Amino acid sequence: MATPPVSPTVTSIGRDTPRVDGPHKVTGLAQYTSDFHFPGMLYAVPVEATIANGRVVKLDTAAAEKMPGVRAIFHRENIGRIFRSTGGPGFEGICLERRPPFEDDVIRYYGQYIALAVADTFESAKAAADAVRATYASEKPNVETHLQADDDPDIVLTAYGPAERLQSHRGDAEQAFASAPIKLDQTYITPAETHNPLEVHATTAIWEGSTLTLYESSQGVVNLRGVLAQMFGLPKENVRVITKFVGSGFGSKLWPWTQCPLAAAAARQLGKPVKLVLSRKMMFQSVGHRPLTQQRVRLGATRDGKLVSLQHDYVYHRSMLDPYHEDCGEATPFQYSVPNLRVTFGRARRNVGAGADMRGPGRVPGLYATESAMNELADQLKIDPVKLRILNEPKIDESRGIPFSSRHLVECFELGAQKFGWSRRSPEVGSMKRDGLTLGWGMAGCSWIAARFPAAASVHLRDDGTARVATATQDIGTGTYTILAQLTSQKTGVPLDKIEVALGDTALPEGPTSGGSMATGSVVPAVFAAADSAISSLLTIAATTPGSPFESRKPDDLAFQDGRVLVKGDGAAKGVPFPDLLRRANLRLVAGSGKSEATFGNPQPKFSTHSFGCHFIEVTWQPEIARLRVSRVVTVMDAGRIINPLAGRNQIVGGVVMGIGMALLEHTSYDPQTGAPINSNLADYIVAVNADVPPIEVHFLEFPDTEINELGARGIGEIGLAGVAAAITAAVHHATGVRMRELPVKIEDLLA
Ligand code: MOS
Repeated sequence: MATPPVSPTVTSIGRDTPRVDGPHKVTGLAQYTSDFHFPGMLYAVPVEATIANGRVVKLDTAAAEKMPGVRAIFHRENIGRIFRSTGGPGFEGICLERRPPFEDDVIRYYGQYIALAVADTFESAKAAADAVRATYASEKPNVETHLQADDDPDIVLTAYGPAERLQSHRGDAEQAFASAPIKLDQTYITPAETHNPLEVHATTAIWEGSTLTLYESSQGVVNLRGVLAQMFGLPKENVRVITKFVGSGFGSKLWPWTQCPLAAAAARQLGKPVKLVLSRKMMFQSVGHRPLTQQRVRLGATRDGKLVSLQHDYVYHRSMLDPYHEDCGEATPFQYSVPNLRVTFGRARRNVGAGADMRGPGRVPGLYATESAMNELADQLKIDPVKLRILNEPKIDESRGIPFSSRHLVECFELGAQKFGWSRRSPEVGSMKRDGLTLGWGMAGCSWIAARFPAAASVHLRDDGTARVATATQDIGTGTYTILAQLTSQKTGVPLDKIEVALGDTALPEGPTSGGSMATGSVVPAVFAAADSAISSLLTIAATTPGSPFESRKPDDLAFQDGRVLVKGDGAAKGVPFPDLLRRANLRLVAGSGKSEATFGNPQPKFSTHSFGCHFIEVTWQPEIARLRVSRVVTVMDAGRIINPLAGRNQIVGGVVMGIGMALLEHTSYDPQTGAPINSNLADYIVAVNADVPPIEVHFLEFPDTEINELGARGIGEIGLAGVAAAITAAVHHATGVRMRELPVKIEDLLA
């Protein structure tokens, strides 16, 4: 057979690699959930409760039912059975609002669904939903923002399993604080925030007999399938979830919400496909939010800056029914070296929708508090905040007594300080000026968990020289399509443009949830194992196919390199391209499958595995017109090996942008009278936009962490947001002298 010239090994790992799905997105070929249409499809619009606490006494659907195009108004009496779901072993069956829609007539939060209008068109359904009249027995909702912990037991059941309220402790933190020469005792508050992905949540449900197909905007199709199967009493094989493209999620799409079973139940009752797309207003009510947190941090230190005691006691608000856990204390026990430490949490019930993981859940508000406290302590001690952190750098994870797999936080600080020009900082408030503006410089460190979810994948090598990689994870806009193509190309030598990536479908091998910044780290070993298994089958075929140039060889004598099969020891130039071998054997393809185990939740890990990083941030302040701007950001990340620096920087920049929003703009306000999130639209809920965003310089350190996978790649989605708000509030203080301990920083707080 004719052999084309060998191309040198081309690897895209570690190179800036444009999104392989980019052309689909810019040409409109990419189909998001609400883009799918089916013959006979009907449209559903939920009716939202307009109270936040009470009961539905009467539902008048008569007028709505008679409206043109209306097929049904569903409510408690006619929706049919929707069962509860329960969690499974490990990280299975997760749902942050367990009560199925319409299970009872009790209203726990504003916007809770009380009925569902289904019609031939969206407009008819919306008009009918608006025409449903509800009468309530209403009580005053509790959306009080001052938090006092409820009287909970010492161990509480959270959405992710039992959690001890004394989260971490060592030494005697109270005693050490009492006798510390330098003390800091402050409380930091972060508001409720709403995720606001551009693409709203949507479900289209289709029944064929007893099988249910859901088109869903989801960050976790496998979990969603398991939960919905339970809700409809089906084996999970009977449920298929499809999510081809996601217009981001930030955590709000990690777990199923109530609109999904509603669409499925309506489709079941009517025998037609039903599409349900949320409004932006509903996005603030019924699909999660980052809870309000109130965190007291007490630091005790020696006069030369060594921490002797750290206490972090936090309270967050939760919904009336559900135990989402905002784990603000996750990083506290190991971020710094301190012999005496105590971390505790409490929860306070409010008439709000269920809380949910929002980009950097727990650690982002948690690190805002602890990093702010470190900055305040540095000022109190008149020590440079970088120096204070380096002074307290731990050698091991002191909370668990195990080493870090790879921790280069000090190098992050050093590189960040150098790139930013930190040595030119003069610490006095208001002492730095440029072009008539007052400058404020601040910094903070951060970290984020690194671990793997279980993952399975398949790889096909095909007779036309193409490859296919498949796993039931999803690309939430972060670049997972591209990463999967890169991993497959690396192993098979097939160029990126000849690789088909299949994801976002529970019919594929079970892949990870796109959460915890763990999807990439999780899929690496599974895809590599699948490729190895396909290659191993290929070598057997090469050695056993009559007429193959390797017919007389044993599979063990053969090797695979750059897409070619060759005899071990021979150069790749003597190799035979795999499509030639497949064609000779009359095979369309050779398939391999692989999987990897979870490391997440391992009760006895050998290493403490995290990514680390820091932000150096400049603000400009014009007191005459009370204008505050973030003007410069330098971010350094120690996130292991970066598979795609282009997408990686993109993730970190996105995180920093959200951090600017968190520090200065974002805040979900609940109306004390009605309990409604009142700024429930993108005009009144302000996020950082281009005009708020300065140049952001991102550096990666690239120390591979082979504890996570053989490439040494850790996650980089969420860490970009962690620490940003603490760096900004420190910069605000440096510029203005105002110490802001409640986010977001408002201009009126800065007016002297
Ligand atoms: Mo992230 S909050 O785990 O989507």
